[in-house]
Amino acid sequence: MADRERKITEDITIEGMSSEGKGFAKINGKVVFTEFAVPGDVVDLEIRRSKKSFAEAVITQLKSPSVLRTQPVCSHFTVCGGCKWQHIQYAEQLRFKRQIVEDAFTRIGKVAFPPIPEVVGCKDNYYYRNKMEFTFTDRRWITDAEVAAGTEFEHRNGLGFHVPGNFWGVLDVEHCYLQADPSNKIRLAVKEFALKNGYTFFNLQKQFGMLRNLMVRNTSISELLVLVSFFEKDEEKIEKLMQFLSITFPEITSLQYVYNPKKNDTIYDLEPVVYKGNDHIVEQLGNYRFKVGPKSFFQTNSVQTKVLYDITKEFAGLNQEDTVYDLYTGVGSIGIYVSDSCKKVTGIEQVEAAIEDAKQNAALNHVTNCSFYAGDVRMVLKEDFIAANGRPDVVITDPPRAGMHEDVVKTLLQLAAPKIVYVSCNPATQARDLQLLDEKYEVKRVQPVDMFPQTTHIENVVRLELK
Ligand SMILES: C[S@@+](CC[C@H](N)C(=O)[O-])C[C@H]1O[C@@H](n2cnc3c(N)ncnc32)[C@H](O)[C@@H]1O
Repeated sequence: MADRERKITEDITIEGMSSEGKGFAKINGKVVFTEFAVPGDVVDLEIRRSKKSFAEAVITQLKSPSVLRTQPVCSHFTVCGGCKWQHIQYAEQLRFKRQIVEDAFTRIGKVAFPPIPEVVGCKDNYYYRNKMEFTFTDRRWITDAEVAAGTEFEHRNGLGFHVPGNFWGVLDVEHCYLQADPSNKIRLAVKEFALKNGYTFFNLQKQFGMLRNLMVRNTSISELLVLVSFFEKDEEKIEKLMQFLSITFPEITSLQYVYNPKKNDTIYDLEPVVYKGNDHIVEQLGNYRFKVGPKSFFQTNSVQTKVLYDITKEFAGLNQEDTVYDLYTGVGSIGIYVSDSCKKVTGIEQVEAAIEDAKQNAALNHVTNCSFYAGDVRMVLKEDFIAANGRPDVVITDPPRAGMHEDVVKTLLQLAAPKIVYVSCNPATQARDLQLLDEKYEVKRVQPVDMFPQTTHIENVVRLELK
């Protein structure tokens, strides 16, 4: 858009934070949302999209920064989609997250709830992720700053993250603050080795190039899994890169690669090859150990997962006679974690491979009172299943972002377990489900937990009791 067509509104004070993590202000009676704006900022805004009831704008000038701001640590801030709240002090991020939960419960849930305590924050608010996936590209994203500086490039090979809102764009990452070293060292070393030795980087549009993806997974007990996905099966080059990684990073406990000639990046239907070490790494949560392979689902912040599970267990208030249902069990981690405090646990999860992992995890921990079933909770949780597995004293439910299907909520109402512990990664859908459960259940306790610092995401645990 030519400069003279741009409509800038000057000296706007940002009034609040939306549940999507955007700052908002009212201009001529209309709410205007702005990414990277913080309540208290005074800014000039350019409206980019205007709808009947709201508009979206970008900051063209930060006239006076809010006192809630801090200096972002990452050089990729605002370009990379990863850590969009880095410019907000961590204590304030937690305050906003608590408000997001309260707003959802008030506006969507419209149910009675006790005062919501402060969010349990992370001890480490950077380098907290245990899994990162990087993408190779031969057309790396050129930033506005690079365009403005007229930077010239010898090549456009890069290794990093997809740029938000741009399917083809991949940002070459210098340093990522999400996963502890050697994650950055490994990514940079692989890129340097590939450039030096003439490996081709993947071209997503035209589907060519040898190097496709790099996965790094670590655990709190220092196990390390690295998996490289190749689009082309050049065995000599695969061997050379694997050997390089194996020698340069002896701390890798599981070094794997996979040949992926498909159109999409997913490796779930492929068989990775173990080059060195085990086919999995092991994570420890409290007294329990969990196998994590390249395809396994596992919570991505291990330290805070233990915090979350401890709260879940406390809210469940179990005794040794209790029958527990763990709905949406994933690899059985919550069920196994609470298994020492109850008579038995029944877990349901739709991904069959995760149920296989759950069974192996139970065996790994010599846990014999957990049974796991594969299937959609909506289809599995029926009268005959309940008759076979016993009526639950406590239901723990941890659905995906979409929340529970209405039929599942209806079944829970019929089932009328004395207690439900609802773990959610989306307060909006949780609030919607709480409204439906309000017919029979009362919200007794609420505890938000921050699993993803520097982002707008918030995990929330609720204890419901039969009225
Ligand atoms: C938020 S994760 C929770 C996993 C686990 N409780 C944990 O703490 O790691 C939600 C899980 O629900 C599973 N899921 C999604 N829809 C489902 C459905 N309709 N029936 C059963 N499981 C489902 C997903 O595969 C995923 O493993």
